[in-house]
Amino acid sequence: MNPVKVGLLGLGTVGGGASRVLSRNAEEISRRAGRGIEIIRAAVRTLDRPNPTGIPLTTDPFEIVNDPAVEVVVELIGGYEPARTLVLQAIANGKHVVTANKALIALHGNEIFAAAHAKGVIVAFEAAVSGGIPIIKAIREGLAGNRIEWLAGIINGTTNFILTEMRDKGRDFAEVLAEAQVLGYAEADPTFDIEGIDAAHKLTILASIAFGIPLQFSRVYTEGIARISRDDVTYAEQLGYRIKHLGIARRTESGIELRVHPTLIPERSLLASVNGVMNAVLVKGDAVGLTLYYGPGAGAEPTASAVVADLIDVVRTLTADPGNRVPHLAFQPDAIVAVPALPMAEVETAYYLRMLAVDRPGVLAEVTRILGNLGISIEAILQKEPKGGVAEVPVIMLTHQMYERQMDAAIQQIEALDGIEGQIIRIRLEHLGATD
Ligand code: HSE
Repeated sequence: MNPVKVGLLGLGTVGGGASRVLSRNAEEISRRAGRGIEIIRAAVRTLDRPNPTGIPLTTDPFEIVNDPAVEVVVELIGGYEPARTLVLQAIANGKHVVTANKALIALHGNEIFAAAHAKGVIVAFEAAVSGGIPIIKAIREGLAGNRIEWLAGIINGTTNFILTEMRDKGRDFAEVLAEAQVLGYAEADPTFDIEGIDAAHKLTILASIAFGIPLQFSRVYTEGIARISRDDVTYAEQLGYRIKHLGIARRTESGIELRVHPTLIPERSLLASVNGVMNAVLVKGDAVGLTLYYGPGAGAEPTASAVVADLIDVVRTLTADPGNRVPHLAFQPDAIVAVPALPMAEVETAYYLRMLAVDRPGVLAEVTRILGNLGISIEAILQKEPKGGVAEVPVIMLTHQMYERQMDAAIQQIEALDGIEGQIIRIRLEHLGATD
């Protein structure tokens, strides 16, 4: 049988990786897919760079999506536009699509999947979340018998790399970020990594396939790592915790929590030992219990591993009736339910607080009185000794779980005290199955 003909949009880090993997493992891949897979054309930004792949190139990506010979379009250019227009055009032309573009799926996935469903084509996106980890397949298929209760993941390698280097080597934030850019892990715009937007894109996708809800990126609470200091990393460690940048999605009786933020997690928790650029996602299903998926979340061949797996999936189901394929978002399109995403005020979590207290009697008593009046229970307190001639001392507290609105009220009242200087640093704390 003839090989399936693929058109590639983008021949950079991931495109180059996909081309290498397809040719190196060609025999195994065709044994698995039942047919060979051949990249017949690729669109690139410029023809000035060397092309070791030998794939015929064009600088016009529309030539690829409109080429009648192309059966599957692999979109690896990233970003919202022109990726959205190109993918919709490919679908309109009856082509299947494989994409690694998390921003595209998180923001425009509802529109794209509706168009694909109407046309009976596949849009596969395993590489969009956590690079080489087959997390989409695991949740969508492997855990399909479960009611998913929650998931929590380290889903941005760049921020995990930065936090790991800060903790292990006391390195400077900017220097580590520059290294992540050189290594090809960071986004084209690295503020997407640092401010948590990249993780929010991925969490949007994971939550949708876990709970059968529409993709709703705008409802994800998103906080990055820029305010995390070396002191917080050290104090957290002294209390038996690590700070990780997590995406968390949890089903509650009143709605779905969708949040991305730095989080203290117990050092014995499975995610605490995920270091460097590695990603990991914990998924709690009612039948299976706690499961963990770990691996490289970025990089040429790890991401290509997911792209090629999607291509094989497409080839395997080319002849299947579209109604019998695995639904794009795990649940049948007419069974997606718009469960409300909870506002942060209604999210329940525990907290790490760091404040600067004037070193005189009664200050701590005032702080604990405020917390007590609001029904907030303290789990641990750490007060550091004053450093040479300074009148204020850092006080660090861990609290039990409460609604975020209670903590908002407490912080407002504590910051207004004469004995407290400046702003209180608040980092949310989760046990992630270490205690439940
Ligand atoms: N910038 C992303 C990361 C790349 O650091 O994880 C993979 O999506």
